[in-house]
Amino acid sequence: MIKEYINDNKDRFLSELFELLKIESVSADSKFKEEVDKAANWLVDEFNKLELDNVEKIQTKGHPIVFAEKILDKTFPTILVYGHYDVQPADPYELWDSPPFEPTIKNDKIYARGACDDKGQMYMHLKAYETLKNVENINFNIKFMIEGEEECGSDSLEDFVVSNKEKLTADVIVISDTSIINNENPSITIGLRGLSYMEVELTGPNRDLHSGTYGGAVNNPINELCKIISSLKDEKGKILIPGFYDDVKSYDQTTRDDINKVPFDINEFKSHIKIGDVHGEDGYSTVERIGIRPTLDVNGIWGGYTNEGAKTVLPSKAFAKISMRLVANQSSKKISDLFSEHLKKLCPESCTIKVTEHHGGEPCIVNTNTKGYKAAFNAFKEVWNKEPVPTYDGGSIPIVALFKKELGLDSILMGFGLDEDAIHSPNESYGLFNFYKGIETITSFYKNFSANEK
Ligand code: BES
Ligand code: MN
Ligand code: MN
Repeated sequence: MIKEYINDNKDRFLSELFELLKIESVSADSKFKEEVDKAANWLVDEFNKLELDNVEKIQTKGHPIVFAEKILDKTFPTILVYGHYDVQPADPYELWDSPPFEPTIKNDKIYARGACDDKGQMYMHLKAYETLKNVENINFNIKFMIEGEEECGSDSLEDFVVSNKEKLTADVIVISDTSIINNENPSITIGLRGLSYMEVELTGPNRDLHSGTYGGAVNNPINELCKIISSLKDEKGKILIPGFYDDVKSYDQTTRDDINKVPFDINEFKSHIKIGDVHGEDGYSTVERIGIRPTLDVNGIWGGYTNEGAKTVLPSKAFAKISMRLVANQSSKKISDLFSEHLKKLCPESCTIKVTEHHGGEPCIVNTNTKGYKAAFNAFKEVWNKEPVPTYDGGSIPIVALFKKELGLDSILMGFGLDEDAIHSPNESYGLFNFYKGIETITSFYKNFSANEK
């Protein structure tokens, strides 16, 4: 019945998702503020169509949160679905084969910004609920909390969660905003990395100088910043900030062997992104480097003259955005402080340095010995005819740690994306197979979670 309903309605499910994908809800850029609001309104309409109660667009200092619920019976278990309707900027537009906000199907994939992260994945929950509502007796309560600021730090959601604990009471949180290994090997995410995101401004002389009159006698802040950055890691890929590894969770050999058992194809990994070889911390496999080890990466670096032609200039300033992905049990605040202190120490007298912190987030580990995890496990087993394996993803969803801290709730990270979906990149896509199979798997999760309970 469930399969049938999904199949009978598959074209409508897709055309509805297309409506959402056409809305340019880029949260980071204020130019798109109205579009973000439009996406929130669109969700409100969808929740009303599903006949949910207390459908609300909650205004915040930033972008709105959309909430909706159906409390059928207070004795039923309650599932809280979290997702985000905002997307990353689509730049650079010229690298897209089809326009980012004109969803297109090609090779059985939906191409659009947000197709996978997270509109396509979030919308599967609405369709899973619709499916169950139409074909079965529902014996769970459901709450939806869909935010519009995930891609720029979830600031408003954090405040909302802290001051609305009652409203958000639930037995489990489920999130589809991560990936599986591949379509032959389903997986459930049991770890996400945290984040410390810093910006560094190095100043040399008080103005740009003639690089002949002054060059050689005055320190160049771009040269200096490069030197500082290259001193942050050694040959073996170890990060050299004192205290950086103090809290990093270490795993015994048996656990590491388990982690490395995932069916990961290194050649496929390399060929997808066209690299000759992988690179990272000595002594760890690629799977470990992504899942259980922290990083330090320059996200952007700029300064001086970059326009056409050559201008002989000794620049006054140099800038870099540097992020560190964190793992259990590192603390974002502590790492940001260690980074700032260390960089200040590295700054020579010939320059001045300013280090600021952007949004951060804590890492998380999901307990697999819970009713929620078992329900997800069984859902994959039933729908994919294969037992899912637990994986550690390298990305971050900082709100998961906050849910645990503020609501005391575990999140089940039941995503259906693939690495090749190119989230945050040009030509983001989401497989039709994953979209429909995901809807079915979610119905099975809801049912498994609420089974034998009243
Ligand atoms: N959905 C991603 C996170 C993700 C992607 C987790 C793939 C696991 C696998 C999320 O929307 C995201 O992009 N998070 C940001 C952090 C945020 C604070 C901007 C990230 O990981 O960079
Ligand atoms: Mn996401
Ligand atoms: Mn994202």
